[in-house]
Amino acid sequence: MDVPLTGHDAVLPDEVLDGLALAPGKTIADCTLGRAGHASLILPQLGPGGLLIGLDADPRNLEFARERLSAIPAGSPHRLFHANFSELDDVLKLAGIPQVDGILADLGLSTNQLFDPQYGLSFQTPMPLDMRIDPRSRHSAADRGVRGSIRMSSGIGAANDNPYCGSNS
Ligand SMILES: C[S@@+](CC[C@H](N)C(=O)[O-])C[C@H]1O[C@@H](n2cnc3c(N)ncnc32)[C@H](O)[C@@H]1O
Repeated sequence: MDVPLTGHDAVLPDEVLDGLALAPGKTIADCTLGRAGHASLILPQLGPGGLLIGLDADPRNLEFARERLSAIPAGSPHRLFHANFSELDDVLKLAGIPQVDGILADLGLSTNQLFDPQYGLSFQTPMPLDMRIDPRSRHSAADRGVRGSIRMSSGIGAANDNPYCGSNS
């Protein structure tokens, strides 16, 4: 599989935009900003009086999103935070934003994270077992002793002729 140029293709963009009922002046929180695929479509629709709040646990994706959003001509105001989506309340309090009009949570991982060995997440390419997307996490998956359960699932995979058994599955 090829990694898209942006690192990730936004899923169901039309449905997401419809669901958020975007309009100028609204405040939208994208709790999993990722590579700003959805956010770059949302931003132009909020107008100068609107606001996009973006959160991501991965500072590298956050930085990519920051550059992508800054390059949008006449983009609406946006504020980005390195934060877990569970911290949304705190982020809004810190930013002095009393309420939002819509929340997007596109849960999971972005394609670039699955392929970049720095994250240690691949099902297909041998790489050190890590699985941290947030550097604030102190322990990698290997530290947490996931190896034991991997050995067990590798055995199950081998029994089922799973070609990926033995990788970071
Ligand atoms: C499927 S991608 C989002 C893609 C994004 N909607 C786009 O169009 O580019 C999921 C993102 O959620 C982030 N993420 C995963 N768990 C998170 C969490 N607990 N809190 C905040 N972000 C998280 C990942 O780092 C990744 O960037």
